[in-house]
Amino acid sequence: MAALDPLRYEVIAVGITKSGRWILYPDDATSLAIVDGILPEVPESAVSVQLSVDPTSPGLLVGGESRALDVVFPVLHGPWGEDGTVQGLMELAGVPYVGSGVLASAAAMDKPVTKTLLSAAGLEVGTWVTVPASESAGAAADRVIAELSLPVFVKPARAGSSRGITKATVKADVISAIEQARKHDPKVIVESAVVGAREIECGVLVDDAGRPRVSVCAEIKVAPGFEYYDFDAKYLSDGAELIVPAALSDDEIAAVQRAAVEAFVALGCEGLARVDFFLTHDGKLIVNEVNTMPGFTPISMFPQMFQASGMTYPDIVDALIADALRRGSGLRPSP
Ligand SMILES: Nc1ncnc2c1ncn2[C@@H]1O[C@H](COP(=O)(O)OP(=O)(O)O)[C@@H](O)[C@H]1O
Ligand SMILES: [Mg+2]
Repeated sequence: MAALDPLRYEVIAVGITKSGRWILYPDDATSLAIVDGILPEVPESAVSVQLSVDPTSPGLLVGGESRALDVVFPVLHGPWGEDGTVQGLMELAGVPYVGSGVLASAAAMDKPVTKTLLSAAGLEVGTWVTVPASESAGAAADRVIAELSLPVFVKPARAGSSRGITKATVKADVISAIEQARKHDPKVIVESAVVGAREIECGVLVDDAGRPRVSVCAEIKVAPGFEYYDFDAKYLSDGAELIVPAALSDDEIAAVQRAAVEAFVALGCEGLARVDFFLTHDGKLIVNEVNTMPGFTPISMFPQMFQASGMTYPDIVDALIADALRRGSGLRPSP
């Protein structure tokens, strides 16, 4: 919100409360900052708004009035935000929106679906199994140990921000990790841990003809004391160092950037994405995941990578809004 030029944009800020209500949020970016480790919250006590899905009277309904919308920037993470559901609502409402459409958003949110599509496109994704809700955690743990090498990462299939993820080294831990992941999602994925690899990320942002363009590559170095890049390390503490650009050879950079575009195209992403990789000591590049609405605070990796590539933060936001307006809404031309 702070990056949007007030001479060019009129911002209507809409917040979603914990109970799921949409409210009119004060157009005040400072109240949304994370201060002293305290995450901001959208207040329940505010004016309700609804997006009209009646194409004959479109807009945002506030009280009895309707306010016209040119474009929506869905700055949302996780299920019911980044997974195609809100994108579907925008489609029904006929409002253009920033970023990927319904299919790419849903595919990138779901880790097993992402891996299936990326491996079909020839990208390396590591070894993994899914655990359906119908399987007992004990039976699943036996299957995991037979099929994968320990340690493993147990994750909700569709969560994000490292929520519900556990690294497990022995069978008892695999069972409790599956139970933990199930608190977030009935569908669970278990992956072999990629041991001792570097975590490398690359941003993709479309140009003014809608073609994917890559950023410099960056590296996440998890601090000692953190076993992996967990929620605290991501948002609340100094648990990780973001190195932009990453120290990589020209060949490694080319391979990461090529794979980032291939992953973007394979899922049919639009607008932007951050593609996350593991680079093993023997030089193997494994795609971990594709984030269709990557972290976007001024200190987040995605804006930092494009800033290191020569854009300003407002340039990035302008480019995304221009892309959404150019595309409009309706059925997607790809993949
Ligand atoms: N298979 C794996 N091997 C090694 N580390 C992993 C693996 N999967 C996840 N991690 C660690 O856990 C973090 C969060 O996992 P990730 O799949 O990116 O979840 P999220 O979608 O919540 O960001 C990664 O950034 C990495 O540090
Ligand atoms: Mg991640």
